[in-house]
Amino acid sequence: SATMVPSWPLPEPCWTLLLSLLLVCCPLPPGAHGQAFPLRVEPQDPVLPVGKSLVVNCSTQCPHPELITLETSLLKELVGNSLGWAAFRLSNVTSNSRVLCSGFCNGSQVTGTSEITVYRFPDQVELAPLPLWQPVGENLILRCQVAGGVPRDHLSVVLLRGEEELSRQLVVAEPAQVTATVLVGRGDHGANFSCRTELDLQSHGLGLFKNTSAPHQLQTFVLPMIPPRLITPRVLEVGMSRQVYCTLEGLFPSSEAQVQLALGDQMLNPAVTCHGDTLTAKATVTAQADQEGAQEIVCNVTLGGQTGESRKNLTVFSFLGPILNLSEPSAPEGSTVTVICMAGARVQVVLDGVPAAAPGQPAQLQLNATESDDQRSFFCSATLEVDGEIFNRNTSVQLRVLYGPKIDRANCPERWKWKDKTMQILQCQARGNPAPQLHCLQEGSRREVPIGIPFFVNLKYNGTYYCQAASSRGTYTLIVVMDVQNRNSPFVNIFTGVLVIVGVVTVAVASKYLFGKKKRSGFYKVKQESTSLPLTSMQLNQAVGEEPS
Ligand SMILES: *[C@@H]1O[C@H](CO)[C@@H](O)[C@H](O)[C@H]1NC(C)=O
Ligand SMILES: *[C@@H]1O[C@H](CO)[C@@H](O)[C@H](O)[C@H]1NC(C)=O
Ligand SMILES: *[C@@H]1O[C@H](CO)[C@@H](O)[C@H](O)[C@H]1NC(C)=O
Ligand SMILES: *[C@@H]1O[C@H](CO)[C@@H](O)[C@H](O)[C@H]1NC(C)=O
Ligand SMILES: *[C@@H]1O[C@H](CO)[C@@H](O)[C@H](O)[C@H]1NC(C)=O
Ligand SMILES: *[C@@H]1O[C@H](CO)[C@@H](O)[C@H](O)[C@H]1NC(C)=O
Ligand SMILES: *[C@@H]1O[C@H](CO)[C@@H](O)[C@H](O)[C@H]1NC(C)=O
Ligand SMILES: *[C@@H]1O[C@H](CO)[C@@H](O)[C@H](O)[C@H]1NC(C)=O
Ligand SMILES: *[C@@H]1O[C@H](CO)[C@@H](O)[C@H](O)[C@H]1NC(C)=O
Ligand SMILES: *[C@@H]1O[C@H](CO)[C@@H](O)[C@H](O)[C@H]1NC(C)=O
Ligand SMILES: *[C@@H]1O[C@H](CO)[C@@H](O)[C@H](O)[C@H]1NC(C)=O
Repeated sequence: SATMVPSWPLPEPCWTLLLSLLLVCCPLPPGAHGQAFPLRVEPQDPVLPVGKSLVVNCSTQCPHPELITLETSLLKELVGNSLGWAAFRLSNVTSNSRVLCSGFCNGSQVTGTSEITVYRFPDQVELAPLPLWQPVGENLILRCQVAGGVPRDHLSVVLLRGEEELSRQLVVAEPAQVTATVLVGRGDHGANFSCRTELDLQSHGLGLFKNTSAPHQLQTFVLPMIPPRLITPRVLEVGMSRQVYCTLEGLFPSSEAQVQLALGDQMLNPAVTCHGDTLTAKATVTAQADQEGAQEIVCNVTLGGQTGESRKNLTVFSFLGPILNLSEPSAPEGSTVTVICMAGARVQVVLDGVPAAAPGQPAQLQLNATESDDQRSFFCSATLEVDGEIFNRNTSVQLRVLYGPKIDRANCPERWKWKDKTMQILQCQARGNPAPQLHCLQEGSRREVPIGIPFFVNLKYNGTYYCQAASSRGTYTLIVVMDVQNRNSPFVNIFTGVLVIVGVVTVAVASKYLFGKKKRSGFYKVKQESTSLPLTSMQLNQAVGEEPS
């Protein structure tokens, strides 16, 4: 019959006390309670998970047993009985307890006991979070929190690095916190720490039950006390770029360090490389116009929440000029020309060897433009000192003076005395800027005579010539007289003819010699057989034309 028999509404300690009193105060007759037929309780001293139910069988060999019953504080239910035994189901076994079977055999009371042990896995096995970054060489305290879990004398906790046991302890308190201290080294970077409980019921014929916490990965680091080494230029011109280096040695793990480089408010974008424990950041810094003046370059290296920092001063400067200016790039002869050399503030300029009064001031010079100033160069040198460093820049400008046209007597002799039927060259040069055109025309016939090139003289050339140089600036005229003399004897003629032939041959040989190389390189196209004289060189003209009166 499945009727529930409520147990005595007494807590277990009272029960035990009552049972003991019963056994002590009401002694049974000797022989009878010698337990010739003891009451067996099955299972004996069972171990079971908490909350489970259990069938307990009380049985005896006694031929006429009576009133076999189970005394317990747990809920019990008779599941079967027959001669010599009775079985009860104990449900909701939540804690350790002792059960007692009792009955009567031949008028005497017989008893048997069994200890029920319950076990339960821990509800919580948790490793307290590790610090985000742990410095190498410092102690790390691991804390493992264990809640629940019985029986405690079979429950221990193990603190682990990977699979390595760091500490093993019994769990006592409820809840319990178990700690272990580890001296952290570089090798612990990336290591997984965890804790594990072990409920060892092997002595009860059950297993070893393990519960493991979630692992926590540790990050360790070394950030040297010394600041990073920062290599920067001391001065930097606006618009210019330079490399900046920031290096730190003895960093671990160097690849996880963060580097920031900045010029004032301007963040630089460094390329970071790691070699072992050495980190190098390299960036290009370009000075902006609005950064002119004293600036600071900062490099900081952050690792494990700590930062090492270095600062260097940098002066950003601008260097304008020099600008060299002529009041008139092409000045008429006689006009006043002003040459000014200017540069930015604090720049010292020197114009043609004459320094400006003070840095930042222009240097200036004035001149009355003369012919000899044409193509004259002016040179200006600018010097700027920034933080003890000297910067230097130069520029030059060329002046053009407009003059002329002019013909000098020295370059254009007044009188030429030539023999009839000879080759001659009329030498006459004009100068001026812009370069003048020169023409010599015979008075009366207005015949033009070639200038500077050989020509065949005959009596028609006898006369007075007007040599005129002309440019946009005007004209200039000079008189030249050509006195062409008739030949007086055939001997002279022959002699002259021989001279001319010798001259022609000489010239031909000379020209072949002189222009040979040029001809080969293709500059001159002079036919070797040509009878005309390929004379364009001044030296040659002079060699032939040198036949003064
Ligand atoms: C109780 O034990 C007796 C004797 O060992 C046995 O005959 C009987 O079947 C058992 N009852 C149960 C329910 O196990
Ligand atoms: C089991 O026992 C516990 C206390 O020992 C009680 O709180 C719970 O209600 C019981 N459960 C059942 C199903 O009887
Ligand atoms: C039962 O007890 C009586 C006397 O008390 C005794 O004579 C008898 O032998 C006992 N029976 C057994 C089986 O022990
Ligand atoms: C630690 O655990 C993480 C992920 O759980 C794994 O990637 C890593 O390799 C482990 N570290 C070690 C040293 O085993
Ligand atoms: C503890 O481990 C046992 C087996 O060893 C498992 O059945 C149980 O669910 C685990 N408990 C927790 C809280 O993980
Ligand atoms: C590192 O330097 C940058 C740029 O100067 C700055 O913004 C940042 O706050 C610095 N970090 C630390 C931790 O000092
Ligand atoms: C940088 O300049 C500041 C003043 O502008 C000065 O106090 C500091 O000492 C300088 N630092 C270095 C490293 O020269
Ligand atoms: C040079 O100077 C002249 C006259 O002083 C001025 O008109 C001109 O603008 C200047 N040129 C430059 C490039 O400064
Ligand atoms: C330029 O000529 C003027 C007069 O024409 C003269 O007074 C002046 O001194 C001259 N300047 C120079 C630099 O020769
Ligand atoms: C500029 O000229 C100065 C003096 O003539 C010379 O010493 C210097 O080297 C020059 N500088 C440059 C950049 O040409
Ligand atoms: C050349 O001309 C001058 C006058 O210009 C004259 O006296 C002279 O006789 C002339 N000579 C000849 C050969 O015609």
